[in-house]
Amino acid sequence: MNKNIVILGTQWGDEGKGKIVDYLTEMYNYVVRYQGGHNAGHTLVVNKKKIVLHLIPSGILHNHVICVLGNGVVISIIDLIKEIDMLSQLGIKLDKRLIISSHCPMILQYHVQIDLARELALGKDCIGTTGRGIGPAYEDKVSRLGLKIFDLYNMELFAKKLKRNVDYYNFQLVNYYKSSPVDYNNILTEVLKYRDCILEKVDDVPMLLQDAFCNKKHVIFEGAQGSLLDLDHGTFPYVTSSNSTIGGVFTGSGAHMKHINFVLGVVKSYCTRVGSGPFPTELKDDIGLHLCIKGKEIGSTTGRKRRTGWLDLVLLYRSIVLNSISSLCLTKLDVLDELPEIKVCIAYKINNVLVDNKKFFPFSNLENVQPVYITLPGWKKSTKGVTCLHDLPLEAKKYISYIEEYCGGNILVDIISTGPDRCETIVLDDLFKKKNI
Ligand code: GDP
Ligand code: IMO
Ligand code: MG
Repeated sequence: MNKNIVILGTQWGDEGKGKIVDYLTEMYNYVVRYQGGHNAGHTLVVNKKKIVLHLIPSGILHNHVICVLGNGVVISIIDLIKEIDMLSQLGIKLDKRLIISSHCPMILQYHVQIDLARELALGKDCIGTTGRGIGPAYEDKVSRLGLKIFDLYNMELFAKKLKRNVDYYNFQLVNYYKSSPVDYNNILTEVLKYRDCILEKVDDVPMLLQDAFCNKKHVIFEGAQGSLLDLDHGTFPYVTSSNSTIGGVFTGSGAHMKHINFVLGVVKSYCTRVGSGPFPTELKDDIGLHLCIKGKEIGSTTGRKRRTGWLDLVLLYRSIVLNSISSLCLTKLDVLDELPEIKVCIAYKINNVLVDNKKFFPFSNLENVQPVYITLPGWKKSTKGVTCLHDLPLEAKKYISYIEEYCGGNILVDIISTGPDRCETIVLDDLFKKKNI
């Protein structure tokens, strides 16, 4: 019986993917990241202790698990080493449990500088990136000028390519952005310092996964960001620079789709977004503030305040279709506990005319859509830490049923998260038995 599963975000990221990956990892052998970089911030809470991971897959707390960074992940080796050190200070040994694909593009200092300089130049039109150099590093992959982890095997050639890239970026930084140049020698020295530590973790990921599948090992593919931040399917240009929808799994790991049995879509009980871009259900009132405070909606990577709003079922439905989602995991239900009534967006209007989202999705006009809401009664009881569906208030169950009905009745909410801690989770039936995977 194969249990291979993709766990990905259905909104604008920060849905609680890390918590759920950590929760399910107990039953798995491998956890694979396939896109994004250290722009991600995945929070795990175990016995009240919080750990935020940016690059290392969220299965790392389970000693039996091998964590893999697939070729689609952009790696800043300095930040990866920092994260390894952070875990080691917490007593979490990686030993041979972290594998890096030789094909991962590297994020170097000039990517960060260009990312920051561009955002500054865009001013009020900025994307609101995490400033980690993600976009420029992916650009370098597409231009085929970037450096990959396998370039570390030949430092002579590495130094030559680095020099060429530093010159190119410094020209832009100095002449176009009127910003400071980066220092070639500094970059080379830092890379040399960490090279061995990185190279000892490098492996051929597609072959490793092939072996895992043949040996009936179970694999989680851990998404970063969320479907609406996908470079091709999201709210462009206010997106990240990788494919956070399902296709990223295959291009970013080398796994074949025949090995994937299940796609779990993680959805927050309301919506949040960090950075700029359209957000139809955004709340700029006391309820928005309440969601922000109660949900502790402060970005785990940049510490920025997350924008908050009601759950948008129009967008959720689109994510379900885009990713061929098998079932949903609803997180942060407890954050809605005190609200007397809860709205969910079920359609959009433009100039007071209902939009047929299935025929024409108003991506180019998302700033101007008027959300159509239905109002559901709140439950005004604590659901914090509930681990059994029966113990949820009736209105909370109705909220969940409404989401399922809207999504067509065949996509069910199979996992509910009622708090940040690993144990604050409801799993309906046996997820894997029921779905026969
Ligand atoms: P990710 O990027 O999708 O992994 O999500 P983040 O870790 O960036 O953000 C989710 C935040 O919500 C973290 O602070 C989690 O500890 C927290 N969290 C996750 N699930 C729940 C939940 O069910 N209830 C509450 N109150 N917090 C949760
Ligand atoms: P996790 O995995 C939420 C957002 C940034 C910005 C846009 C582009 O924790 O869900 P980038 O630095 O990627 O070029 O920024 O994408 N963003 C995220 N928002 N969660 C994330 O990751 C994000 N990663 C990037 O805020 O709007
Ligand atoms: Mg996050």
